[in-house]
This record gives sequence, structure tokens and C-alpha cells, in this order.
Amino acid sequence: MKGSAMKKKRILSAGIILGTTALLLSACGNQQQNQENRLYIGVTYYNQSDTFLNEMLDSFKAQLEEMEVGGTVPAVTVRDAAGLQKTQNDQVKELIDAGCNVLCVNLVDRADPSDIIDLAREYDVPIIFFNREPVAEDLMQWDRLYYVGADAKQSGVMQGELAADEIWENEQIDRNKDGKIQYVVLEGEAGHQDSVIRTENSVNTLQQKGIALEKLSYEIANWNRAQAENRMEQMIGQYQTSIELVLANNDDMALGAIDAYEKLNYSETSRPVIFGIDGTDDGLKAIRDSKLTGTVYNDKEGQAEMMAKLAAALVSGEGMEDLPFENDRYLMVPYFKVTPQNIEELLGEENISPEANERG
Ligand code: BGC
Ligand code: CA
Repeated sequence: MKGSAMKKKRILSAGIILGTTALLLSACGNQQQNQENRLYIGVTYYNQSDTFLNEMLDSFKAQLEEMEVGGTVPAVTVRDAAGLQKTQNDQVKELIDAGCNVLCVNLVDRADPSDIIDLAREYDVPIIFFNREPVAEDLMQWDRLYYVGADAKQSGVMQGELAADEIWENEQIDRNKDGKIQYVVLEGEAGHQDSVIRTENSVNTLQQKGIALEKLSYEIANWNRAQAENRMEQMIGQYQTSIELVLANNDDMALGAIDAYEKLNYSETSRPVIFGIDGTDDGLKAIRDSKLTGTVYNDKEGQAEMMAKLAAALVSGEGMEDLPFENDRYLMVPYFKVTPQNIEELLGEENISPEANERG
């Protein structure tokens, strides 16, 4: 009796805490409400149309709900900078004013973090930059600046290896039988650390594996599916069935390439093999449905976990020594290849919504 009454009470108070959290979730909590060690995270990211980042931030929020820092669940506020660095600078000020004690910043312009760094330093709020990497000199401007991301080179090498394996295994890919693979590249934003480095390493790896390549063309599609569809249509218009391989810097652009082939009604046998990077929900499904040939997993859950743990450590002062830092300030999460062995598991994970996670 007593036990169950107590249990009920605990459930009730848990309900109250959750209710409060929901309120705080909307605005970081104002200064008076701030408890000393409570974690109030302010996030701003470059553009809400980015598939990978939306999925990463969903995982981040779900993982924070499972955490306890300073006796309570962390609060998080997310802002979309809509592609404008100026907007993002204003958002950082607003988040600091709202009482956030850690900032997670996905820069619009990775070469232009100085205003944000100055603000954070003035108010002594640490920053975890993520996914869009500032140059090292900028990260050294202050000792409370960190970066969570992944090594672009590794993803490019893995994409090249996946493509090389496929080309060695399947002679049909060299459709015109000239002993060379005619390819095109769909590139991410100019100036993004993941664009050029992924392309270079993917192409170099293919060559090192002994595959003769002929580059037909490349187009920048800014990570974006619709832009990629459009650019791909143009390239198909120019090269028709000569394109044997498409290397895309991310899954959304690879999916855009597939969209273009579907729209133009190309048969299976006249399409190239297409490779992406990310392993987004739709990317994985396209692999399962044999539309996308291969992809490399950009471990968003791992990156979200590192960011949550680092944020908690920065505010509580505990656990910093358990984090696998490189060069003191970098947490780099490894990529891995999506394979027939792990795709089911990855898809299974993807299908669990944050709500289901919570209930479980
Ligand atoms: C991802 C892309 C994403 C970009 C945004 C990259 O690491 O692979 O899908 O659009 O980051 O900055
Ligand atoms: Ca060929």
C-alpha cells in the first residue's frame, strides 16, 4: 500500500517536472528561474531545410530527454538561422540573454565566427561548434570553444572504396566497355569542409584501387535534393547514357540524382550507379530499395551524444576527462560504411521515434 502510494506520488511529481520542462523548452528559461547547475542549451543551425542536421538535432533532443544534469532534465532551445550569418549572430545574443549556459553553433559561414566568439566570451558562455568546422585559428581564440564533427577525408575514402568494390564486382557498370568509368560529381556548398575533401578522396581512392576514370562534369548543388535533381537533369541532357557513376557529397544530392532519372524515365539498365554519404532515413530506404548503390554513415547519433555529453560536462564540471578529445578541443566521431550487414539495424533505429524512445 505504502509502496504504491509512494510510487504514485513519484509519478505525479515526475509529471510536474516534465510540465515545467516543456515550458522551459520554449525559451531556455529566464535568468531568475535558472538553477545553478541546470543545463540550458541554446542551439542555432545554418538552415532548417537541411535533412542531415534536422535528423541529428532530433537525436540530440531525444538523448537530452534521457539525461539528468544538476538534478533535472536539460532544457534546449533551437533556432534556424535561415542561411544568414547576421541572423545567427543575433540569435546567439538572444539565447545568451534568455539564460542559456552552453551554446551549440552550426555556423552559417564557417569562416566568420568572430562576432559570436566575442559575444560568448563577454558573457562567459562556452560554445560547441558542430558540423560546420571553424578554422583552427578561430577555435583557438578562446579556451571555451569546442568542435564536434567528423573527418571529411575518412568519408571520401570510404565512398571511394564502396564504389571501387561495386565496379570490380559488376562489369555492367562500364556500359560502353571502354575500360574507363565515366563519372560526374554532385558537390556540396563551396567552402564547406566536407565538399572538396570528400570529392578529392573519393576520386583518389577509386584511382588507387586501379579504376580508370573519366570525369565528364561536376555541379555544385549545395547539399540540396531539389538543386541536385535540377543539375543532374542538365548533365543527363548533355551526356545521356554515357554517365556510368555519380559521386554525390551527401545522400540528399544522391537522391536528387535518382529523382532526375525517375523523372526522365530512364530504365534500370541505362542508369549509373550512385553513391552518397550520410545514411539519412531516406538515403537508407533508397539503398534498401536498390535505388541508391551505396552510402557512408555520418554518425548523427554519435555526434549528438558527444555534443550532449560535452554540454553536460561544461556545466556540471564533471566528465570532461572521459571525453575522447583530439587536440584538446575536437571530438571527431568516426564514419562507417553502410553494408547489407548493418542496414537493417540502422533502419530499425531510424524507425524509432523520439516518443517511442521515451516510452521505452
Ligand atoms: C552532411 C550534409 C549536410 C552538411 C551541412 C554534411 O556533413 O553530410 O548532408 O548538408 O553537413 O553542413
Ligand atoms: Ca565506360
